[in-house]
Amino acid sequence: MNAPTGNPASVAQGAVAPLPRLGLFEFIRRVREDQLLVIDPALYGVDLTCSRILFLHSFLVNKPEYIEHVLLTNHANYRKSHFQRTMLGPLLGEGLLISEGDFWRRQRRIAAPAFHSRRIGAFVATFGACSEAMLARWRAASAPFDVAAEMMALTLDIIARTMFSTEVVDEVAAIRRLTDVVVHLRPSLLDLFGFPQWIPRLQPKPYRAAIAAFEALVARLLAERRRAGDAHDDLLAMLLSARDAETGEGMSDRQLRDEILTIFLAGHETTANALAWTWYLLARHPRAEARLHEELDRVLGGRMPGFADLAELKWTRMVLEEAMRLYPPAHTIVRTAVGADVLGGMRVPPGASLTISTYALHRNPNLWHDPARFDPERFAPEAVAARHRFAYLPFGGGPRICIGNGFAMAEALVIVAAVAQRYRLLLAGGHPVEPIGLITLRPKNGLWVTLEPRRGKSGKS
Ligand code: HEM
Repeated sequence: MNAPTGNPASVAQGAVAPLPRLGLFEFIRRVREDQLLVIDPALYGVDLTCSRILFLHSFLVNKPEYIEHVLLTNHANYRKSHFQRTMLGPLLGEGLLISEGDFWRRQRRIAAPAFHSRRIGAFVATFGACSEAMLARWRAASAPFDVAAEMMALTLDIIARTMFSTEVVDEVAAIRRLTDVVVHLRPSLLDLFGFPQWIPRLQPKPYRAAIAAFEALVARLLAERRRAGDAHDDLLAMLLSARDAETGEGMSDRQLRDEILTIFLAGHETTANALAWTWYLLARHPRAEARLHEELDRVLGGRMPGFADLAELKWTRMVLEEAMRLYPPAHTIVRTAVGADVLGGMRVPPGASLTISTYALHRNPNLWHDPARFDPERFAPEAVAARHRFAYLPFGGGPRICIGNGFAMAEALVIVAAVAQRYRLLLAGGHPVEPIGLITLRPKNGLWVTLEPRRGKSGKS
């Protein structure tokens, strides 16, 4: 979180600069309404900015080399941000997303096998079956509908089946409402001004209610599993069978709850948003869409992809990657400095907040030619090889890189292939589309579309 904008004309591109602040009230309004508004687009080309509000030193880090320093080279000096801890801590506890140190390392080691590429291969059939079930529902769709909501329901269904071998069909609407509450959480003023963490932050009532409802879901999941015995081979089984190397003890119910909720939330909302933005961009770029159809028809000829097909869906992958460049679902990565450091010649004091806006980075004109243009060719292998590896970070970087990135890409490829072989998604009039920077980057009013059956080689109209 950063308060960096002001008079952008006074800042040279590629500069390291202290910036005049926005008026305090304007800054607070923007942070709490739409985080994308906090960074003026004229600053997307600035490497590093700093500002201070009351007790909080705040940096916006926007140069790949500096980002690499924070996320990788000197990662030990940077913790997950205090914003994340106070906002998400009550829900996610010591789950993978926000835990730290040796505890985090142990949990990550336990969870890692669930995301191994061999396992993802075995999930591909489930990705396809869940997509088929959604498409069967779509057959009855005659009026425009919100495909962003459909993607959310689909990815939730997938995460429940693959990671926990359970179904949440009856609970999808309720979980969606609860997730909405979480995604709309806003940083407290105490955090924005850098007040110490020991001062209690009051959580909004709907959030406390959402936590209680999520806990009931986890309790059901655990009870179901304990009744059924351990004949499963999923993430939940791995968490349940993990033993501490020294004490031999298993995970407490509290820790299980934290990890389950973390995977539920981190594992569906982001992928759903990536897909919604992909449909939006494809609808607006018919040539890219035609090339996608050509590839799907050639490689799949109307069938669902298997794991081996995914490597052949090169253009489809490039489209997804470019969609996540323009609309990175995790639009902001924030860290808090533990000790003092130096970045781009500037002193970073302990406790400072460092914001990496992937939204700004992915639109940095020093890194991307004509950044606002949708152009999947940016992800051709030669173009990727020519770029700094920290110039594109939809999944973050360094040791805290998204554990689900391979899972998410495979899932998104299957879903795009399943849907685009059957339909073109056309934007419905009267529903303006604009991004909003909440905890994730969502289309503010959803994404309303109508369906046009395809009549190509694979179309089954
Ligand atoms: C397109 C989809 C996704 C995007 C854009 C995304 C993005 C990210 C990002 C940027 C981070 C790093 C945050 C940071 O460094 O502060 C992260 C971490 C994480 N993601 Fe994802 N994610 C996606 C899908 C998934 C899926 C499918 C799962 C699980 C099934 C998942 C689980 C996690 C977890 C557990 C972490 C914390 C990892 C750790 O710190 O060890 N994500 N994700």
